[in-house]
Amino acid sequence: MLRTHSCGELRIDQAGEKVTLSGWVQRTRDKGGLMWVDLRDRYGITQLTFEEGVTDPNILETARKLGREFVIQAEGEVVERFSKNDKIPTGHIEIKVEKLIILNASETPPFVIEDDTDGGEDLRMKYRYLDLRRNEVRSKLELRSKLAIAVRNFLANEEFIEVETPVLIKSTPEGARDFVVPSRMNPGEFYALPQSPQTFKQLLMVSGFDRYFQIVKCFRDEDLRADRQPEFTQIDCEMSFVERDDVLDTFEGLTKHLFKTIKGVELSGFPRMDYADAMRLYGSDKPDTRFGMKFVELNDVAQNKGFNVFDQAELVVGICAKGCAEYTRKQLDALTDFVKRPQIGAKGLVYVKCNADGTYKSSVDKFYSQEDLAAWAQKAGAEAGDLMLVLSGPTHKTRSQMNELRLHMGTTLGLRDNNVFKPLWVVDFPLLEWDEETERFHAMHHPFTSALVEDLEKLDTNPGDVRANAYDLVINGVEIGGGSIRIHDQETQSLMFKHLGFTEEEAKAQFGFLLSAFQYGAPPHGGIAFGFDRLCAMFGGSETIRDYIAFPKNTSGRDVMIDSPAPIHDEQFKELGIKPA
Ligand code: AMO
Repeated sequence: MLRTHSCGELRIDQAGEKVTLSGWVQRTRDKGGLMWVDLRDRYGITQLTFEEGVTDPNILETARKLGREFVIQAEGEVVERFSKNDKIPTGHIEIKVEKLIILNASETPPFVIEDDTDGGEDLRMKYRYLDLRRNEVRSKLELRSKLAIAVRNFLANEEFIEVETPVLIKSTPEGARDFVVPSRMNPGEFYALPQSPQTFKQLLMVSGFDRYFQIVKCFRDEDLRADRQPEFTQIDCEMSFVERDDVLDTFEGLTKHLFKTIKGVELSGFPRMDYADAMRLYGSDKPDTRFGMKFVELNDVAQNKGFNVFDQAELVVGICAKGCAEYTRKQLDALTDFVKRPQIGAKGLVYVKCNADGTYKSSVDKFYSQEDLAAWAQKAGAEAGDLMLVLSGPTHKTRSQMNELRLHMGTTLGLRDNNVFKPLWVVDFPLLEWDEETERFHAMHHPFTSALVEDLEKLDTNPGDVRANAYDLVINGVEIGGGSIRIHDQETQSLMFKHLGFTEEEAKAQFGFLLSAFQYGAPPHGGIAFGFDRLCAMFGGSETIRDYIAFPKNTSGRDVMIDSPAPIHDEQFKELGIKPA
């Protein structure tokens, strides 16, 4: 070893010991007679000292050549510091250097490698290997590693077997766009990278593995956001001979275990909410339940009073912001501007102030009497001092606009505390979703999801109303995971493909292997996949998953460090039997 200790471990009781440290030069300070070097490695920082007249002149000369990020090895004696630094664990000692070797020089780094860096996002991504030297960034990946180990321990304890499934698979029309890979040995044919190992894990159930898991890379060619990367990681799981509650109980157990062991947080309840209620009360299938401000539908009290906008609306819906009656004109205008932004697209915002004296002041006073507004307030549970905010329009669109406003108010009022964790199972999602573009139904989750037995009869008459035996785990408004109880017989699976618009031939060509496997004794099974990057970000108190991925892509899907994607040579095109675009 090129060291006897790390840069984070020496303390005062080791004073007098001879040690060897290796690491990176964080900083040098040269005061003429005295010189200090902060030596850094993953474990911490230790101060090295050099003193004119005491340190060997050759060593001092070498020390004076050191620049930021030089890699060095220093040998010397641990001594008590004259002026101590209580901010770092090694701050009471320093090393009086007796031997110094430059293991490797360094160019001046393009940004300062300290917690407080001067490097912008682009620059740090280009030199990600330097960014990763920073404590803040590395600690996020340490958290990720700890979480992965805790996941493995828990699942192994619960008899789950970790199995790797292939990465070169086949493109399927469902879900997001696939990344495809041309096959040289089969010119004109392509593999696809898996969007998830869904069918493979189901085949493992047919194979009798009983409980499978994998911490696995998945690939989706979709538009990127803070919580989406084109390649991301799932904790993918499947179980045989289970019903919905068995899966939910197991993964409640995993989630509790992770929060307990990694964060020291005891999670209490994991309430369950129907998709329909989530949409009605929060306008979202992933409600942030750290705060209330539930939607209140006001159609019956707000319509037919002469206000045309409300009268013509499918839905009139409000929220009650506690203690906000004193909002100024400027604040209310800002809220109106917020909902009118193109991303949200509301036409306007109605407000009702519940004044301290029991009167009401609204933006629609012209149409509504004090009694009318009192009826709204009563429905919304609004009291003196509160502010009601009301939107109207087509149901789905208005709910989604109100969801944005509710989250915005929650943030503004400080109700979304990163140290509070509120898990929620959203259950009974619709099985099918109508797609306007293709004018056909799509599986909302995926085509292997089973329907609730009591809804099966509606599959032919009213497919849009059929509920799936599917569930999502939502924490603080983030969709952490999703899964379902699967179809496990060939007949039902074929019927599902038919409803999704596949001809028999298409279904066979795409998923013949699964239909065939179902003819050889497929057990009832179900499972779930957690978004591992999202889980890491939640544990780290961040909304951006990129920080928890060692080498992430930027918002255009590029890795700016290796400069990918990149063109390939004509020769490669030829070899692959495809023509350049
Ligand atoms: P689903 O598509 O819901 O289910 O994905 C499971 C979880 O993966 C995370 N996730 C993502 N994370 C980062 N970037 C992305 N682009 C991205 N897309 C999804 C989310 C999501 O909840 N095979 C099914 C699971 C099953 O049925 O068992 C599946 O993939 O946190």
